[in-house]
Amino acid sequence: MTTSVGIHDLSFATTEFVLPHTELAAHTGVDIGKYHIGIGQRSMSIPALDEDIVTMAATAAAPIVERWGADRIRTVVLATETSIDQSKAAGIYVHSLLNLPPSTRVVELKQACYAGTAGLQFAMGLVHRDPTQQVLVIATDVSRYDLDSAGESTQGAAAVAMLVSADPALIRIEPQSGLHTSDVMDFWRPNYRSTALVAGQESISAYLQALEGVWKDYTEQGGRPLPEFAAFCYHQPFTKMATKAHRHLFNTTGHDLDEDQMTAMLRLTTAYNEVLGNSYTASMYLALASLLDHAGDLTDQPIAFASYGSGCVAEFFGGTVVPGYLEHLRTDGHQAVVERRRSIDHHTYRTLHGRSLPEDGGHHLTPKQTTGPFRFAGLSGHKRLYEHS
Ligand code: CAA
Repeated sequence: MTTSVGIHDLSFATTEFVLPHTELAAHTGVDIGKYHIGIGQRSMSIPALDEDIVTMAATAAAPIVERWGADRIRTVVLATETSIDQSKAAGIYVHSLLNLPPSTRVVELKQACYAGTAGLQFAMGLVHRDPTQQVLVIATDVSRYDLDSAGESTQGAAAVAMLVSADPALIRIEPQSGLHTSDVMDFWRPNYRSTALVAGQESISAYLQALEGVWKDYTEQGGRPLPEFAAFCYHQPFTKMATKAHRHLFNTTGHDLDEDQMTAMLRLTTAYNEVLGNSYTASMYLALASLLDHAGDLTDQPIAFASYGSGCVAEFFGGTVVPGYLEHLRTDGHQAVVERRRSIDHHTYRTLHGRSLPEDGGHHLTPKQTTGPFRFAGLSGHKRLYEHS
């Protein structure tokens, strides 16, 4: 018996604040063309003092639980690069904030920006084993580089929550996957650092090489021919990377590429990432959200996914858009999530960037800044406190 399994619902959340790249450029002295055109970024989401991966994850997932209920959710997988604890899974706080049933398994996954895809694939396996169950997969990250570094302008933050289910309402995920792992140091973050280390240009090359690797393996696994795909969702650490990846994939596999068609197709996938910034694990799924929310009717169209996580692991797979999906989109809600952010100036951004949490085990309450539904209320006895706003 073959069961169709895939993404039943998708919802995203981001932060309270936003820093426009015009404001960044005014202080860095960098020509705005480098940000807007060179890397394809217009603004970046900045967390308030009382926001983090947990508050974004819970905010992203709450509308899904509200729409479908929690009765069939027996697993929560939270993927992140921005872990808040070396031991406890951040998803347990989300489980608690969303009042999910105790008969749930909750686990956290890590592999840089790739872990959301690992979560999706693991969820697929669980649902295939028991199609009555659903899995809540949440990819949530705050991308942070050092101030005044080359990576600074690609920072951002967001969470994407996906409900993985049999007979999905949005996308059926196809069984063939192309995989690639190689040991490279293109981007990493030792446990003692709050900002990532990156070898900028090498990270772009590593991404492109991994893309070649996953495509080769995808083909060997019996995947679709490249021209069959109607659209391509790439991991977008900055949105120009999608163009680099797409061109590279077509050129290295000997396919003709119509530049105008490519630009028009990729533009549909970049609308959210170009204003939210890099959200690591969530980024490729924001590309999917952007595509579904902005393209015309994609019913029965095959979509390609190219996931990349530095270090590095990559995966290429396909999915087909399900008839009736348009009724389940959250386009207005997503637009509202982007537009509700409050603009901050450069000084405020730098102050927020410099924030660090006290390590003395004392009782420290966080000032109220977020207007979102959940907040990180502070630390007490080394324990994180979360509450409904
Ligand atoms: N007008 C228009 N374009 C301009 C311009 C101007 N005034 N000035 C510069 N540009 C263009 C450049 O020509 C260049 O374009 P191409 O890439 O097409 O040649 C582009 O702007 C960027 O310029 P530089 O290459 O000089 O930029 P940089 O070296 O200062 O930084 C970066 C770019 C390496 C991506 C840096 O932002 C960075 O380190 N980012 C973080 C790492 C990253 O995102 N890596 C991506 C792959 S790794 C990954 O995917 C995992 C992950 O999420 C981190």
